[in-house]
Amino acid sequence: MHETFMRRAISLAERGRGHTAPNPLVGAVLVRDGKIIGEGFHAFYGGLHAERAALEDCFQRGLSPAGASLYVTLEPCCHTGKQPPCTEAILAADIRAVFVGSSDPNPLVAGKGIAALRQGGIAVTEHVSESACDALNAPFFHHIRTGLPFVLLKYAMTLDGKTACASGASRWITGEAAREEVHRTRAAVGAVMVGINTVLQDDPLLTCRIPGGRNPLRVVCDSGLRTPLDSALVKTAAEVPTLLACCVSDTARHEAYLAAGCEVLTFPGRRVDLRALLTSLGARGINEVLVEGGAELGWALLSAGLVQRVQAYIAPKLFGGKNAPSALGGTGVPYPIDAFALKNMHIRSFGADVRIEGDL
Ligand SMILES: NC(=O)c1ccc[n+]([C@@H]2O[C@H](COP(=O)([O-])OP(=O)(O)OC[C@H]3O[C@@H](n4cnc5c(N)ncnc54)[C@H](OP(=O)(O)O)[C@@H]3O)[C@@H](O)[C@H]2O)c1
Repeated sequence: MHETFMRRAISLAERGRGHTAPNPLVGAVLVRDGKIIGEGFHAFYGGLHAERAALEDCFQRGLSPAGASLYVTLEPCCHTGKQPPCTEAILAADIRAVFVGSSDPNPLVAGKGIAALRQGGIAVTEHVSESACDALNAPFFHHIRTGLPFVLLKYAMTLDGKTACASGASRWITGEAAREEVHRTRAAVGAVMVGINTVLQDDPLLTCRIPGGRNPLRVVCDSGLRTPLDSALVKTAAEVPTLLACCVSDTARHEAYLAAGCEVLTFPGRRVDLRALLTSLGARGINEVLVEGGAELGWALLSAGLVQRVQAYIAPKLFGGKNAPSALGGTGVPYPIDAFALKNMHIRSFGADVRIEGDL
């Protein structure tokens, strides 16, 4: 029964995806006599926390939460941020028992939320459906522990491992259902990132084109500031946030981009320092970055240990061509034993295409 209620809390939490960063996704369910009497989730950054939303829902149903059990996917907070501490609301509502999924690694909480509830006489059970609750917030946990965003490296390839034809043409490899899923992923992340060659080759827009979807920040790794002023990215920069990461300190060269609405971030050296770039994205509250190409940037991030998850969309097609690019460039590993091994594999179909996802 505990797992059933926690599953419900997880599915409520999912509804906040793409809107809560840098906060986590959290869902909560209030239960009495085996029946749900209130439920809620953290809907957006700065908004009500899940526990308070569930209590609110219970009151709105004309019910009292006194004596009820609360199922919450993440340890309740005990500090004042944009919202007052959830532990206070839980204690004030006379809740009898609290079932918690994930522990909160945020140093401001980290066990203190649970201790505050126990001190107030509430029976707390931890680790309920913990791995499912942890999976919900992998980007949040990574960001809070490292200060860096969780990096999701995504590419589309043919069954013979090609991400473009030998001519460079790459549209389209996958079908509509897979591409729509990528738009859903864009809506869920704080930023999408590409290398300059992808911009020069494909002139992508990198927006989220599903109804109601939110556009992530678009980031181009462009050391020499070669992004064309008439590219789709620059032309739409007034409406969609766009950041050019470069190594050009001559600010006169920034001006046209700034006038078009781009942000220009300069790094020392000859190549954009990817760790420094990710650190600066993490510092502005972005906890997940989707990397959409190409092979050179992908390898640079992977080999620097900066990628946490890989999503490979595989189309039932063959391009052939020994000069046609594959998903990752660079030097590659010298021997099979040196391979980057993936775990927690998930396979899903999108129309005729398959997506294989795994964690590094
Ligand atoms: N099928 C797919 O999923 C997919 C997705 C995207 C792209 N593509 C294809 O991939 C191709 C482009 O890929 P690509 O490998 O040629 O280039 P890329 O990865 O798009 O861009 C690489 C460039 O990024 C810049 N960069 C800046 N900082 C960097 C850093 N720290 N490390 C690495 N690169 C850095 C470098 O140019 P500077 O030094 O000048 O900055 C580098 O040459 C296109 O043909 C495109 O169609 C396919």
